[in-house]
Amino acid sequence: MPDDARANLCPAHVAIIMDGNGRWAQQRGRPRLFGHHAGARRVREIVKACPDMGVKYLTIFAFSTENWKRTQTEVAGLMALFRKYLEREANDLFESGVCVRFIGDRIRLDDKLVTLMDELELRTAGNDRVHLTVALNYGGRDEVTRAAQRMAVEVEQGRLHYKDVDAETLAGFLDTHVLPDPDLVIRTSGEARISNFLLWQSAYAEYEFVDTLWPDFTAAEFSRVLASYGKRDRRFGAVRA
Ligand code: IPE
Ligand code: IPE
Ligand code: MG
Repeated sequence: MPDDARANLCPAHVAIIMDGNGRWAQQRGRPRLFGHHAGARRVREIVKACPDMGVKYLTIFAFSTENWKRTQTEVAGLMALFRKYLEREANDLFESGVCVRFIGDRIRLDDKLVTLMDELELRTAGNDRVHLTVALNYGGRDEVTRAAQRMAVEVEQGRLHYKDVDAETLAGFLDTHVLPDPDLVIRTSGEARISNFLLWQSAYAEYEFVDTLWPDFTAAEFSRVLASYGKRDRRFGAVRA
């Protein structure tokens, strides 16, 4: 492929581990929640930037299955922020043509929040400009475990034969079953780990770790990261001729 053509390649599905809100607040001598609120404002900017940048699918890690280990104040503050965010942004997301989905286990989330999530999914289901997936109480291992449980029920009840189970079958039971695999996973804040995010789906994703703390991650920086993705050579195990 000529270099020019490769430079134009844009990832269709970008997944982001939005990390560094706490440190951003700490640097300003403010409580951690102040950083989470600033981070939420940045989400809006990045979602809006997607269509122009050719990103059709954006998946963001908002709360992990491990984040319950934080203080009660922080967890409650985050849950309140998610509710407020969905209430405040629902109209704009709908009118901007964003199709919103949620992945993760809803069982531990409060009913009010789950209702807002269900309503937004239903309301935006017909949109197709950008597909925004929010990972809330999400963990890759938890997702695969829940998928395996659901698959086991199908086998037990005779609707699925164990010999027919292949990678595609399992992927069909994941929360992400309607989404393509991510092409690019970005993590902000300088940490080079994936913290249980999209373990199955990212088997062949490209990774970009940037030092910027999430509340400082602008659309301009997003654009630079996407441009550098365009220069990568994805081989998927094959040898390029
Ligand atoms: C990411 O920022 C947001 C969530 C995990 C909810 P952090 O809260 O992890 O920020 P740091 O890593 O402590 O700076
Ligand atoms: C990952 O960030 C989860 C989210 C961004 C929601 P964490 O801050 O929870 O990850 P660790 O603890 O540094 O691995
Ligand atoms: Mg963190």
